Amino acid sequence: MATERSLILVKPDGVQRRLIGAIVTRIENRGLKIVGMKMLHVTPELAAEHYAEHVEKPFYPLLEEFITAAPVVALAVEGPEAISVMRGMMGTTNGRESAPGTIRGDYGVSRQMNLIHGSDGPEAAVRELGIYFKPEELLDYEPTLGEWVCADDEK
Ligand code: RTP
Ligand code: MG
Repeated sequence: MATERSLILVKPDGVQRRLIGAIVTRIENRGLKIVGMKMLHVTPELAAEHYAEHVEKPFYPLLEEFITAAPVVALAVEGPEAISVMRGMMGTTNGRESAPGTIRGDYGVSRQMNLIHGSDGPEAAVRELGIYFKPEELLDYEPTLGEWVCADDEK
């Protein structure tokens, strides 16, 4: 088991729909630790760097238009297996198919406007955290309740 960090975005639809608090609350309630957080407007250049794997795909122009249309909130989220834990909390890509109880399944019905991004693996997480955060913007601290979130051998 490994402590991981994941790059999470509350996408423009989440910001516009005033769901920042609801989404951040779910992350906090799960016991994950927020170690970085900022609001920014994604530029076309940043979108292409972040979504490099999708730039050549037919849906990319619409994805770029969407992700640059309003601000996002970027979060660095840390915890045991945080990458897969966050992917599970997010639900599947298409909100219409996402299970109730997931963020996409509870708040959305769209494949594109699916509210949240989360890194899909350790390499992607390192790459994406490096795109959105400077090293000094990722903070090291001991949460007071940390001892009650998981056992030492799970950290
Ligand atoms: P994300 O990268 O944002 O966390 O989402 P994901 O892994 O669940 O989905 P991915 O396949 O990486 O797609 C990235 C984002 O592009 C939009 N999309 N549009 N029109 C389409 O066919 C289509 N497919 C994907 C979604 O906003 C998706 O989250
Ligand atoms: Mg993805």
